[in-house]
Amino acid sequence: MGAGAGLSGKLAVVTGASRGIGRAIALRLAADGAEVAVHYNAGAEAAAAVVAAIAGAGGRAFALQADLGAPDGVDALVAGLGSRAVDILVNNAGISPKLTFGQASPADFDLVIGVNLRAPFFIVQGLLANLRDGGRVINISSMGTRAVYPAMAVYAPAKAGLEALTRILAVELGKRGITVNAVSPGATATDMNERARDPVIAAQIAQTVALGRVGQPEDIADIVGLLASEDGRWITGQVIDASGGQRL
Ligand SMILES: NC(=O)c1ccc[n+]([C@@H]2O[C@H](COP(=O)([O-])OP(=O)(O)OC[C@H]3O[C@@H](n4cnc5c(N)ncnc54)[C@H](OP(=O)(O)O)[C@@H]3O)[C@@H](O)[C@H]2O)c1
Repeated sequence: MGAGAGLSGKLAVVTGASRGIGRAIALRLAADGAEVAVHYNAGAEAAAAVVAAIAGAGGRAFALQADLGAPDGVDALVAGLGSRAVDILVNNAGISPKLTFGQASPADFDLVIGVNLRAPFFIVQGLLANLRDGGRVINISSMGTRAVYPAMAVYAPAKAGLEALTRILAVELGKRGITVNAVSPGATATDMNERARDPVIAAQIAQTVALGRVGQPEDIADIVGLLASEDGRWITGQVIDASGGQRL
């Protein structure tokens, strides 16, 4: 199916693959030949539709549920994979509730840090024995780590932590030939970013983007596809901007 069989025989785990960017990443990696674990939380039907779309195109996929905001969510995800070897892990699941510095409560802080930073940290730790030498870990960050959006007062620090973790893991896992990178989207038209879906607001955002439009999930998925491929083997510890040059 699709682009080819470069990832044939490999298993890719994509968190938050029921919708948006994660869905596009799952479809892209499956098109490249990988079997895909389509992780989801609340979107069971949506995840089943992603699995069906992959199967319908001749690929292989299965759905995997875990609430990464819950204390035992990471354990559920890791348990769901059993002893399967994982070649590619994409930590994509995320939440971005609008919270200014003055608004955020300790509970808000814990949840946003929990899903966006704690979960990727412990997913990698939990999958250390599963991750295949020579594999890939790709963390989905945000351009909010380099440009200030006041309503991202907890989200941006969480993603900044994810970028720091990316470098820590690049050194830690480099000994095993595993590359670890972050991909940092700008405004991308998904449920999370309804503004980028509104034609009037999207046109305003587009004026801040060098390439003159908002991103689509496939724009991000193709960068992940590159990093996951053999061609990405010499890139590690990097934060790859995926914004079309937004707010340069
Ligand atoms: N869209 C943008 O403009 C933008 C910009 C920069 C960075 N990003 C980042 O890109 C990634 C994907 O974002 P998106 O725009 O595709 O978001 P989205 O459309 O809102 O989708 C979020 C995904 O994360 C999953 N998720 C949410 N809470 C979860 C939880 N507690 N446990 C497990 N999974 C959970 C959802 O699963 P269910 O639906 O099954 O619950 C869904 O699959 C995120 O890390 C986000 O921070 C997005």
